[in-house]
Amino acid sequence: MTADAFGTMLEPFAENGFQVLPGFLDAAVCRMLDAECEALVAAGGFHPAAIGRAGGRRHDSVVRSDLVSWLDGASHLPGQAAYFERMEALRAEVNRSLYLGLNGFEAHFAIYPPGAFYRRHLDRFRDDDARTLTAVLYLNPGWPADAGGQLQVELDGGSVSVEPEAGTLVLFLSDRFWHQVLPATRPRHSITGWFLRRNAALCW
Ligand code: OGA
Ligand code: MN
Repeated sequence: MTADAFGTMLEPFAENGFQVLPGFLDAAVCRMLDAECEALVAAGGFHPAAIGRAGGRRHDSVVRSDLVSWLDGASHLPGQAAYFERMEALRAEVNRSLYLGLNGFEAHFAIYPPGAFYRRHLDRFRDDDARTLTAVLYLNPGWPADAGGQLQVELDGGSVSVEPEAGTLVLFLSDRFWHQVLPATRPRHSITGWFLRRNAALCW
C-alpha cells in the first residue's frame, strides 16, 4: 500500500492526537485474526496481563483482569501478516505526514472475559517512554450496544465512548489520554498495538 492510500484520513488525529477509525481493517481480515486468536486460546497461549515493566512488572487484578498473548511480527498466519502489513503502512504514513519518528512496533491480542476490565490508565511506563502511539483494533463482529465493554477515552471536552466493533481502530498518543475499558457481558477480543520511538542508543 502506498502512503497516499491514507489520503486525508488521519487529519482528525493530526489535529487532536486522537481518532476513531471504523472499518480500518477488512471484515475478512478481522475474521482471520479472531480465528487465530481462538486457536491461541485453545493452545493455552494466553496469560494474565501484567502492568509495569522489567523489575516493576506485576500482575494486578485490581487494575486489569484481561488475558494477553504477544504477537510475533514475523508470523506467516494470514490474519497477523495482514495486520502487521497494515500497521506498517500506518506507521510510514504517520511518520511521513506528522514527523513522529516512530521506529518500532509491539502488539498483543487481548481477551476480556465477561466482567473483565482495565481501570483508568495511561499507556506510557514511568521508566520507559518508548510507547508513543497506541492503536487498538477490535475483533468482535456485531457487538451489541447493550453488551458493555466500551473503551472510554478522556479528551479535553469530555470523555468519548468507543464500541469494540470488529474493524474499528482507535489511535491516540500514548502519554496524553487517560482511558479505561468497561466490563462486558460477553468475551471481548482485540489487539492493542503500540508504535514505539526508541532512542538511537537502544536501536543500534
Ligand atoms: C490497553 C488498552 C483498550 C481497549 O491495552 O492498554 O487500554 O479498548 N486497551 O482494549
Ligand atoms: Mn491502555
